[in-house]
Amino acid sequence: MKHLKFSVLPGDGIGPEVMEVALDVLASATKDAGYALDYSTHDVGGIAIDRHGKALPEATVKACEEADAILFGSVGGPKWENLPPAEQPERAALLPLRKHFSLFANIRPGLLYPELVAASPLKTERIPDGIDVVCIRELTGGIYFGQPKETRELEDGDVEALDTMIYKRTEIERIAEIAAVAAKSRGNRVCSVDKANVLTTSVLWRKTVTEYFKKHYPEIELSHMYVDNAAMQLARDPNQFDVILTENMFGDILSDEMGIICGSLGMLCSASLGLGKNRQDLPFGLYEPAGGTAPDIAGKGIANPCAQILSGALMLRYSFGLNDLATRIETAVRKTVEQGVRTGDIAFGNPSVNTREMADAIQKNLK
Ligand code: IPM
Ligand code: MN
Repeated sequence: MKHLKFSVLPGDGIGPEVMEVALDVLASATKDAGYALDYSTHDVGGIAIDRHGKALPEATVKACEEADAILFGSVGGPKWENLPPAEQPERAALLPLRKHFSLFANIRPGLLYPELVAASPLKTERIPDGIDVVCIRELTGGIYFGQPKETRELEDGDVEALDTMIYKRTEIERIAEIAAVAAKSRGNRVCSVDKANVLTTSVLWRKTVTEYFKKHYPEIELSHMYVDNAAMQLARDPNQFDVILTENMFGDILSDEMGIICGSLGMLCSASLGLGKNRQDLPFGLYEPAGGTAPDIAGKGIANPCAQILSGALMLRYSFGLNDLATRIETAVRKTVEQGVRTGDIAFGNPSVNTREMADAIQKNLK
């Protein structure tokens, strides 16, 4: 038995419910192949604020440092909404985790199965075969982390606030590399999104990406698009894109747009990969569903566990190098949806199953 060592951070809201069943699916998928899950569970987010006074306790960070990957649930909720922004679970847990582990590459697949096109707000005739795009977002640079970042009072009594958007060439090159590798396993096309008509960082971004692809990946079809146009094009014809490569804030916004056009957030997984290698000599990573804590349905056992399960599959692929097992899980999820087994968010008024039943059906389809 080979051990897969990771940290489990279920967090708040539906996080613990979907995590529980996702771990069962992961365990049964890996067991047959001779792997044992070796994980410990730790507090993060609102629950960590309640129990330890902060969203990202040191003990949680330490446990993650000792693991080869993090399987993350979701954090936040109404209970903590009135805290100052810098102390809120989302920001106070996720941003420091990303920085601490240098998780610079955020991979968000925008995948909508043809069976679920009705879940998308886009007209069906625009996406007859569903959607298949991936967004590669730079995650540890740009305006979210640039210094200085402050609010200051002026002599005339006015107040001003300041964020700094800053990128180094090497930061752009390393995320360009991730996009190139992603494109090679898909449609061989990358669209780099920036605002080079206005922003200096974007001018460097465009120049760096162009030179990087020319030098290392001349066979990949590279295009560039301004972010405002990209937002429009995603809504008009998402499948014109294969891989979208973009900086931190643009990627935050565009990946949410991609999320909604792909129908239910309950289906969307993500990977955030680090700079260093883990003990398996593969990238350390944090794997999380895109949907958030869904406080309206938390505790009812009816949330869609697919995004959490698919995030687990990404963990097997990237941090443990188990591509075949990842594909097996992805295929099982797809097959389950095809069979019409659906949680409420993707049932379109048809009878729906609960979280556990959905996971059980996926487990059966692993065989
Ligand atoms: C995301 C989230 C985070 C971000 C927030 C919670 C800090 O919106 O993962 O997209 O902005 O990156
Ligand atoms: Mn976001």
